Amino acid sequence: MGSVLGALTSPAERPSHRGRFPLSGASACSQWRRPDRRRCPLREGRALCAPPPVSGPTVRRDTSTGFYRADPSIRGDAMEYVGLGRNGLRVSAVGLGMWQAGGTGWGRDVRDADCVAAMECAVNLGVNLIDTAEVYGQGHSEEVVGKAVRAVGRDRVVIATKVAGYHARARDVEAACRGSLRRLRVREIDLYQVHWPDPWEQVPLRETMKALERLHRRGWIRHIGVSNFAVRDLEEARAHLSRTDIVSNQVRYNLLQRDIESEVLPYCRREGIGIMAWSPLGKGLLTGKYRAGRRPKDRVRADEELFKPANLRSAAPVVAALRRVGRDHGKTPAQVALAWLRRYRNVVPIPGAKRPAQVEENAGAVGWALRARDVQVLQAALRRVKLDTS
Ligand SMILES: NC(=O)c1ccc[n+]([C@@H]2O[C@H](COP(=O)([O-])OP(=O)(O)OC[C@H]3O[C@@H](n4cnc5c(N)ncnc54)[C@H](OP(=O)(O)O)[C@@H]3O)[C@@H](O)[C@H]2O)c1
Repeated sequence: MGSVLGALTSPAERPSHRGRFPLSGASACSQWRRPDRRRCPLREGRALCAPPPVSGPTVRRDTSTGFYRADPSIRGDAMEYVGLGRNGLRVSAVGLGMWQAGGTGWGRDVRDADCVAAMECAVNLGVNLIDTAEVYGQGHSEEVVGKAVRAVGRDRVVIATKVAGYHARARDVEAACRGSLRRLRVREIDLYQVHWPDPWEQVPLRETMKALERLHRRGWIRHIGVSNFAVRDLEEARAHLSRTDIVSNQVRYNLLQRDIESEVLPYCRREGIGIMAWSPLGKGLLTGKYRAGRRPKDRVRADEELFKPANLRSAAPVVAALRRVGRDHGKTPAQVALAWLRRYRNVVPIPGAKRPAQVEENAGAVGWALRARDVQVLQAALRRVKLDTS
């Protein structure tokens, strides 16, 4: 362990806490915590003891900075940390996705201040990995992440952002990175990912990867990652890197969408590449709050195949199983869905959240593990699911 730790450069990754984070400030958001989670299972996504509004007293506006600050006096659970890739990038076992901060694509209830508060809450819970991208709200998400980073302190966050697949030319990669640095207001991006392989212009991957390596050499980015890469793309991309390796592949992975299990997951496990699991909650479906008669209406999800009424009906046994398993552990369906992804140590779910209460719930997927019989219950439910993805 010593040599790996020695290689860490960012204080956010430096495990002064030896793999666990004693959450002095952990609950950020405990005012939303139900008095006793064990006796308070969610029913159709509604807590029996309804959480107070986001503007509860534990997250207060700091009048000098205008940012929201969590009350550091309340203790919470302990966060765990894992290495992403073989290069020693140390991240919390659950991250935070910030596509939501891009604007109202995710619904009219998205607010910048809530997203900043969500990130502050996350950091106080020991979550250090925050994912964004230049395309989310055309840079707006990066700006909001930048605000939160200034509020919590640069050294407490591992910033992961992405260059769009349509910026695969070398000159565009550099310009995109400069734009992200400016919006995030940082000097260096911790993890810079190629958002998707370019299917249109078909810029040779060699050009993109060499451009990324130049940014790495200049110190603009600390680690290189990719997203939505198949094994053939990963192999080609890695072959063009001479000084460093890919640390992570960010891909869709949740209980209902497990396509990566056949090739990408085994390859990445074997090669020591981290998997950042996007849509780990099936865009909210696995929290149990949506059903055929209650579907999300926002732009991102209105036409999403998962939310077709037939699919919602088909997924119902899985949600019921999540609830059943959760009851045994005093956990919510969302926490069980995230714990299921954490069976593999190289898989780091990055659930998106719009407000602190969601972050707090999602961070509760850490500090415990599913038993073999829990996994069997979930597998039995999965066998009954037939999704219509036509
Ligand atoms: N690389 C890529 O191509 C790619 C693609 C997609 C996403 N991503 C990244 O992955 C992140 C996560 O994926 P995602 O946002 O698509 O899906 P997700 O994490 O599965 O779902 C996020 C949504 O679920 C709901 N939610 C989250 N926590 C909850 C909780 N505890 N209780 C109840 N509802 C909760 C929220 O929406 P409501 O409250 O409105 O239901 C939230 O917006 C994104 O933010 C982004 O950073 C990357």
